[in-house]
Amino acid sequence: MRVRLARQGEGKDVARLAEMALQGRGQGDDTGDLAEAIDAAGGKVKVPFGHAYAFVADEDGAVCGLLYTTPPVRLAEDCEEFGAACQQRLAERVAEIELLAVEEEHRGRGMAKHLLDVGEISLRQRGCGALLVQVLADDEPVKAWYKRQGYRLLGPGEVVALRVGGELIPIASTGTTYLTGVKHLAG
Ligand SMILES: CC(C)(COP(=O)(O)OP(=O)(O)OC[C@H]1O[C@@H](n2cnc3c(N)ncnc32)[C@H](O)[C@@H]1OP(=O)(O)O)[C@@H](O)C(=O)NCCC(=O)NCCS
Repeated sequence: MRVRLARQGEGKDVARLAEMALQGRGQGDDTGDLAEAIDAAGGKVKVPFGHAYAFVADEDGAVCGLLYTTPPVRLAEDCEEFGAACQQRLAERVAEIELLAVEEEHRGRGMAKHLLDVGEISLRQRGCGALLVQVLADDEPVKAWYKRQGYRLLGPGEVVALRVGGELIPIASTGTTYLTGVKHLAG
C-alpha cells in the first residue's frame, strides 16, 4: 500500500470515497465539484485561504482510501477581527481534516492510520503546526480511533488556545452534534 497525493483524472475515485466519508458523518453532500477539481488539478486544490490536499491510499494502482485536508476556513472567517495577515497565517499553520474514508474491504489493516501519518508529515513539512477534525459526538468508534491517533477531543465548554504569530486563537467544539479534535504536529 502506498499513500500519495491524488493525480489528475482520479476525481471519480476521490468522489466515491468522499461520499463514504460524508455518509459516515450523516451527510450526503454533492461531491461533483471536488471530482472536477481533482480531475483538473490533481491532489493539490486551490481553495479559499490556500490549498486543500487529497491524499489517497493506492493498493496495486487502485485508489482505496482518502484523506482530504483543507485550510480551517470557518476558523479563519471567525478571526476576521485579527486582520487579514492573521487569517492568512492561521490558514498556513492550521489545517482541518475534512474527509477520511477507506473502502470497506480494506478496513482494519491500518490504512487510515497510514493515510493520517503521511498527511500529518506532509502538512508539517509545508509549515502546518496543528490539525483539527470534526467528529460526530455519538460516533464512539471514530472518536476512540482519533484519540488513539493522538487527537484531543474537546468536550462541551472546553477550549484550547493555538498560538498563531502573536495571537492566541481559541479552539472549541461549536455545538453538541460534532466535537472538535485537535493535534499539535511535532516540529
Ligand atoms: C474510520 C475509518 C476511516 C478507519 O479506517 P481503517 O483503515 O479501517 O482504520 P485503521 O485500520 O487505521 O484502524 C482500524 C483498526 O485496525 C487495527 N489494525 C489492524 N491491522 C493493522 C495493521 N496491520 N496496522 C495498523 N493497524 C491495524 C488498528 O489497530 C485499528 O484498531 P484501533 O481502532 O483499535 O486502533 C473507516 O472505518 C471508514 O472509512 N469509515 C467510514 C467513514 C468514516 O466514518 N470516516 C470518519 C469520519 S471523518
